[in-house]
Amino acid sequence: MVDSELSTIEELNERNGGMVVTESVVVLRNLWKVYSLGEASVQALRGVDLRVRRGEYVAILGPSGSGKSTLLNIIGGLDRPTEGLVYVNGENLGRMSESGLAKFRARNVGFVFQFFNLIPTFTVLENVMVPAEILGLGRSEARRRAEIILKMVGLEERLHHFPSQLSGGEQQRAAIARAFVNEPVLLLCDEPTGNLDSKTGASIVRLLVEANRRYGITLIVVTHDQRIANAADRIVNLVDGRIVGEYLCSHF
Ligand SMILES: Nc1ncnc2c1ncn2[C@@H]1O[C@H](COP(=O)(O)OP(=O)(O)O)[C@@H](O)[C@H]1O
Ligand SMILES: [Mg+2]
Repeated sequence: MVDSELSTIEELNERNGGMVVTESVVVLRNLWKVYSLGEASVQALRGVDLRVRRGEYVAILGPSGSGKSTLLNIIGGLDRPTEGLVYVNGENLGRMSESGLAKFRARNVGFVFQFFNLIPTFTVLENVMVPAEILGLGRSEARRRAEIILKMVGLEERLHHFPSQLSGGEQQRAAIARAFVNEPVLLLCDEPTGNLDSKTGASIVRLLVEANRRYGITLIVVTHDQRIANAADRIVNLVDGRIVGEYLCSHF
């Protein structure tokens, strides 16, 4: 990616109030993340360039500590880079305030984590309603949407259960429903099967792939599970904070 392209995106964005939709849902340029720990510092990302097309399914593979979670958190606006540019859905995240970022996340991004991160004192239904309410939907509309999505992920019999009353696979389905409820353009998953047995994990992978294929949701999954990677359109290999290889996958 060259500078002139980026300045064009910026200009167009400014002229259109940030509403430009480009072909790339994610554009990262020369991304660095350095954590300072007193005297020492850790270079978690060291010059990452990446573009992800609308509707693409990208798997990010790499050993533990290679910077996968850091990368995903920056793409999703949960963390900021030390250096570099981050565009998601045509918007420059580096220009946003904290509250702007929070709104941006609620509108555009769904997150799925290894340990589900459901609110333990909320029922499944209430957990899924939370992002819709953050977006400003009324309670009854949030509930209507949450019920539809929970049915889609096969949890219509579990609406009033608490997370602790569910199996791991069911908790991850609830977390996926929560990630989908605002119809995000981008779904970010950090080791979504890392805490599940392989059969349950496979059903979660099918659910994510279906969302990608059927609804065109752009999917980025961080994993060290080769099965997840095999279902992707593209595999990106991260080692020591750098992209060391990219492979297009063909599915015949
Ligand atoms: N908040 C933090 N403070 C300091 N170092 C961190 C922090 N988060 C991650 N790191 C370090 O950055 C590197 C990349 O971490 P991470 O992105 O979690 O890798 P991965 O998800 O691939 O295992 C590791 O060396 C890790 O110890
Ligand atoms: Mg990680």
